[in-house]
Amino acid sequence: MNAPVPVVIDCDPGHDDALAIMLAAGDPAVDLLAITTVAGNQTLAKTTLNARRVCTVAGITGVPIAAGCDRPLVQPLRVADDVHGESGLDGPRFPEPTVDVVPEHAVDLIHRILTRHPEPVTLVPTAPLTNIALLLTRYPEDAARIREIVLMGGSTERGNRTPAAEFNMYADPEAADIVFRSGVPVTMCGLNVTHQALATPEVVARLEGLGTELGRTCAGLLTYFGSTYRRLWGFEHPPLHDPVAVARVIDPAIVTCVPANVVVELRGEYTRGATVVDPHRYLDRPVNAQVAVTLDTGLFWDRLVASVARLGA
Ligand code: BDR
Ligand code: CA
Repeated sequence: MNAPVPVVIDCDPGHDDALAIMLAAGDPAVDLLAITTVAGNQTLAKTTLNARRVCTVAGITGVPIAAGCDRPLVQPLRVADDVHGESGLDGPRFPEPTVDVVPEHAVDLIHRILTRHPEPVTLVPTAPLTNIALLLTRYPEDAARIREIVLMGGSTERGNRTPAAEFNMYADPEAADIVFRSGVPVTMCGLNVTHQALATPEVVARLEGLGTELGRTCAGLLTYFGSTYRRLWGFEHPPLHDPVAVARVIDPAIVTCVPANVVVELRGEYTRGATVVDPHRYLDRPVNAQVAVTLDTGLFWDRLVASVARLGA
């Protein structure tokens, strides 16, 4: 087996972020170095509390959690409480968290990790890209220390916050623009691929069938997420976006990609935050991303359930 990939997850838990954290913490292919939080699905205070809650219920200790930016670079914060609820993690009940945050800004923690780690580190943002853009702006020398940025966001097709824009891009388009123009290798796992990760009743039953408190908590998260996806978008089963990016790091064969130029639209009257993906090179611009197109759903759910089983044992 290859050595585990050193990873920092930058997230805004968030139901699917919670499962992304568990997949990364529970899979032997990942060496989870830190969890950083940002405002997105909810305020920074709530996403940070939720990261602590997730680590507490999943028994994830020894992984530093640091809070980052509390608003996007330019525009005001617009949370997704219609999707994730008032807490950002509505549904199951969580005990009082027993893991705390470290007293350091997320961007400084990531910088310190990149500087000290003996090999380049993979960043997995599953949230608006504010922290990552700030890192690349404040510490431009860090770009060379990042092995890859494997992000959940964007789409080759339509959006889920506007007709054109996916939430993580819509929430901070200027930050996304900085990341895609940074020269760091980027892999984009957008809605076109995450909508293949549908948490069917069979998946929920597998998690419940683990017979652990953590399995039941995950099933509860997916049940709540399912109810909002049914109400807001008429989905039969909810798509589990964020773990897809982690799965790509675990085993690239789970998520296949095509090379393309990706531009984030900043000015469009109706398309601000859209990812313009050009695999056919109509615009004759250089390739700056690997764009995920296909998910091996069997492998994906097997790895996710196995991680939850390992953490909950
Ligand atoms: C993305 O937006 C958030 O609501 C989810 O956590 C995910 O990161 C999907 O568009
Ligand atoms: Ca997220």
